[in-house]
Amino acid sequence: MRSAERDCAPQRKCGGLVSDTQPADRYLAIKVVMMPRDTNPHGTIFGGVILSYTDQAGAVGAHHEIRRAGWPHQTLVSVAMKSVEFHRPVFVGDTVSFWTRLVHVGRSSITMHVDVEADRYGEITHLTEAEVTYVAVDLSDGQRRTVPIRGSADPRPPATADTVTHP
Ligand SMILES: CC(C)(COP(=O)(O)OP(=O)(O)OC[C@H]1O[C@@H](n2cnc3c(N)ncnc32)[C@H](O)[C@@H]1OP(=O)(O)O)[C@@H](O)C(=O)NCCC(=O)NCCS
Repeated sequence: MRSAERDCAPQRKCGGLVSDTQPADRYLAIKVVMMPRDTNPHGTIFGGVILSYTDQAGAVGAHHEIRRAGWPHQTLVSVAMKSVEFHRPVFVGDTVSFWTRLVHVGRSSITMHVDVEADRYGEITHLTEAEVTYVAVDLSDGQRRTVPIRGSADPRPPATADTVTHP
């Protein structure tokens, strides 16, 4: 990511582009418009739809952090989705953004915080948040083995967002 983009506030025009990133290392992983097919019997958006996008967004954000740190590409599987909180209902027609932030990197795991927000006529509504952990796996020999997320020869200890260094 170009540093000029990283320094831009969300929705602020930077060099003629609307930036999808902002300080504090939030990353816009997914942005989607909610459709009638996504509703529950009450007519609001089904929580499982939000969970599915949250899982996808966390993975997109995790791959982003891995690329950003200069680590090798990994196959990631979701191992845990914790502390999911649905703060507000989501409505058909909402434009919903899934923002991710790095929480922790272990030997084989990476944990992402996902914030889900709607932009309702320029007003941001905080809808849902969750913490999702992914594990790097090697599926090449028909087995499922966990692998070091930073690459095979990296001896560094577990890290948080504050201590991961980027090239
Ligand atoms: C992911 C998987 C390979 C991990 O296997 P495992 O035997 O638990 O592996 P380990 O015990 O060595 O744990 C691997 C890492 O996952 C982390 N982990 C395991 N369970 C966890 C949990 N419930 N919450 C958070 N992290 C967890 C461990 O802390 C470890 O992290 P580290 O290497 O950074 O220290 C296995 O659980 C699996 O295949 N799960 C299904 C994944 C899947 O199909 N996801 C899609 C859902 S439909």
